[in-house]
Amino acid sequence: MAKRKLKKSVKLSSFLLILLLMLTLVGIKLYKNYQYRQTYEYKLLQINYTLDETKILIKNLNDNELEIILKKERNTNIIKFVSEKYFIFNNLDRYLEYLNKNENKEINNVITLVNVNRDRDYYKEPKATNIENKELMLVNKYHYLDENYTPEDIIKISLTYAYEGNSIDSVVYNAFKELTEDAKKEGHTIVINSSYRDYNSQKEIWESRKDLYGTRKADEYAARPGYSEHQTGYAIDVSDYYDVNDEFGKTDSFLWMKENCYKYGFILRYPEDKEDITGYSYEPWHYRYVGKDAALKIKNENITYDEYFAYYIENARSN
Ligand code: DAL
Ligand code: ZN
Repeated sequence: MAKRKLKKSVKLSSFLLILLLMLTLVGIKLYKNYQYRQTYEYKLLQINYTLDETKILIKNLNDNELEIILKKERNTNIIKFVSEKYFIFNNLDRYLEYLNKNENKEINNVITLVNVNRDRDYYKEPKATNIENKELMLVNKYHYLDENYTPEDIIKISLTYAYEGNSIDSVVYNAFKELTEDAKKEGHTIVINSSYRDYNSQKEIWESRKDLYGTRKADEYAARPGYSEHQTGYAIDVSDYYDVNDEFGKTDSFLWMKENCYKYGFILRYPEDKEDITGYSYEPWHYRYVGKDAALKIKNENITYDEYFAYYIENARSN
């Protein structure tokens, strides 16, 4: 009798044990399921992204950005944009809109153009340049300097290095001296023919261009007053002292500048074939001082300063 009782109780406890085990397993499974439902992979799959697409989104975006993506309908163009090198999340809606209006443009080109504001009209809603950025301040057709802005540390350039009447920021002056002395060792005589220009001199330049060629042409060659890098004190126009044709772009000195100026912190600011990005026609003579780090990056990545500023300064990612 006692033996039977014992057998029965062993059976019961085994049954309870198995039940407990099963419940635990079901619990674990339910919990894991719950956990998975909290993931971005699950949530993105729910709005119909494929598994590969969710991986691309998760790899390239942070949590806040993924939350924003979840509020939008699935759009495969988003996948194309997020994988691009110069993608800026804050510009996503503008990329999508610009691509809709310009279906034939390449994805990377859309990114570049929107990053430099080309989806907006020149001069329409310009921003005041942040002068705290100093040598990295951006002045272009979307960023202006106040009429009264004068750089702090402007000094006159000796006639050894420039034509009469030129002055420049002292840091730029030192960098240029080093540059031109090194160029001279290789047989190139590079001199400055224009440098710091105040608002009113720029006004005269632009207006005389406008009177000669009309507004559209003037805008291709000269900056409107307040919109010229020359007002920053960080820009120079150079020439080859012995260039009788006054075509700097055709001289060996130009080739030397193009190859070497970054070592001294300068960049060619308005390169050939980048007119749609910079907004200016090719200017082989115009160089901008941005410091050695920025100049090296710009040279290595073959980008303009407008692109550099948008990606590495204004929208620099900390993560
Ligand atoms: N030529 C350049 C764009 C200027 O006027 O500043
Ligand atoms: Zn210039």
